[in-house]
Amino acid sequence: MAIRTVREIGDPVLNKISKEVKEITPRVQDLIDDMFETMYESNGVGLAAVQVGVLKRIVVIDTTGEDPVLLINPRILEESGEQEGNEACLSVPGKAGSVKRPNYVKVEAQDEDLNTFIIEGEELVARALCHEIEHLDGHLYVERVEGPLFDVEPEEED
Ligand code: NI
Repeated sequence: MAIRTVREIGDPVLNKISKEVKEITPRVQDLIDDMFETMYESNGVGLAAVQVGVLKRIVVIDTTGEDPVLLINPRILEESGEQEGNEACLSVPGKAGSVKRPNYVKVEAQDEDLNTFIIEGEELVARALCHEIEHLDGHLYVERVEGPLFDVEPEEED
């Protein structure tokens, strides 16, 4: 496993659309392992493959440090409610801003064997799912921020 370089805002790859994963090759498995390692090393709660420069629809999240979730080809099936809170991104280092998100989402994704599963999340989990899935379509949370971005300590980034 290896730590990969996280691409930062301004890098055009972050605005590209990631492609569906159809096969778990050894290369994809290495990518997944590296994504978890890179997320934990960076104290993040989520990471999309595009953030390490690979245009594949793969997301990892862990909102507690003890609940690693891999989502391949994720898509949001349902969302409801609303939450407003501060959000950050490893690709926008040192910054955060207020973003409205649904308070609940239901997501369909595939696991490391490409078996389909459903994950539901509320609050921070819902926020992380929305944030990471948007990365796969080339979007950053800063497009949704209400009010100014503000400076944060690196430990507070997600
Ligand atoms: Ni992000």
